[in-house]
Amino acid sequence: MTKIAVLPCDGAGKEVVPEAIKVLKAAGADFDFEEYEVNADQYLRTGEPIPAHVWGELERADAILFGAVGDPRVSDAAYLAGVLLRLRFELDLYVNLRPARLYDDRLSPLRRDDKRGIDLLIVRENTEGLYVGMGGRFKKGTDHEVAIQEDLNTYLGVTRILEYAFGVAQREVVMVDKSNAMTHAGALWQQQWKAVAAKHPKVKTRHLYVDAAAMQLVRDPTQFDVIVTGNLFGDILSDLTAELIGGMGIAPSGNINPQTGRSLFEPVHGTAPDIAGRGVVNPIGAILSASMMVRHLGQTEMANAIEGAVESAIRAGECTRDLGGGLSTREVGDAVARRLKD
Ligand code: NAI
Ligand code: MG
Repeated sequence: MTKIAVLPCDGAGKEVVPEAIKVLKAAGADFDFEEYEVNADQYLRTGEPIPAHVWGELERADAILFGAVGDPRVSDAAYLAGVLLRLRFELDLYVNLRPARLYDDRLSPLRRDDKRGIDLLIVRENTEGLYVGMGGRFKKGTDHEVAIQEDLNTYLGVTRILEYAFGVAQREVVMVDKSNAMTHAGALWQQQWKAVAAKHPKVKTRHLYVDAAAMQLVRDPTQFDVIVTGNLFGDILSDLTAELIGGMGIAPSGNINPQTGRSLFEPVHGTAPDIAGRGVVNPIGAILSASMMVRHLGQTEMANAIEGAVESAIRAGECTRDLGGGLSTREVGDAVARRLKD
């Protein structure tokens, strides 16, 4: 049986993941769900972000369904790095997929009439760039302090993410970098971009600097199909695209390795400490992440059914308050699940 490792983690993550599982079950998913205690309580007790025996289980799972990590009691970055970044790096989940699709016009802050066409995918490099944690602080605590954060880009890492983007594009691949200012890393991206594009002459291509891409995303997001970019720019632009389709509560993501099949699916949002624990957190981001997971596992019809149920619940106004509704987290899970059982 397909084994799904479940890591709800902290805050809002603990509230939204059960709703995603509820919806998967209503859609008829026949998975073996195994939940593991990876969270701030566990970390504060043991000092270990992911206990060794749990790590082995995560490596063996067919996919990981993840909530969010972060807790006001844990200030050190070692916790986030030891959970989410470790999973992305050590399982080599080099593709971070962040789709943005507008399910109902009223959810977008844009005034344009044709915004219904927003349906784009950010393909973010997920294992390199500025997030690898290389660098250091010298003469710390003095007026002469130096802080260095290295931007790591490898030939293989850049090439494989570009190739993935061409594999999933329907219309066009837009490559986003800052090669005019970050010339060393930028030159490698530009070189491989041209090399990979030459192997896919049927796909339209375009290059944008990241600042211009941010502007174009607000000006007319419907122009985009697939955007491929590095770790930092993908992180930032995907918060922007999340807001264009209704906000952090609705945006899903997948972290995958297309070669090994290893994968982790999670809402884009964090633990939302400002609203967590009151039953008002939106579970749609987690539910759509679960639908990306079943799509990755080859169950296309089930994935389409879940997305259809989400769209129908949103259009009926059966949502949490961030989407203009009045339902609780659980009631939204029920509203989506009910549509799948009917
Ligand atoms: P956040 O995504 O938790 O919250 C940003 C804003 O969006 C807040 O106003 C929040 O109320 C709202 N929001 C988030 N999720 C929502 C949902 N499901 N429904 C309705 N509104 C929602 O980001 P923030 O505040 O920067 O970080 C909070 C904590 O989460 C920190 O500890 C941070 O490190 C962690 N974090 C973890 C991530 C992960 O596990 N992938 C990603 C981002 C942040
Ligand atoms: Mg982010």
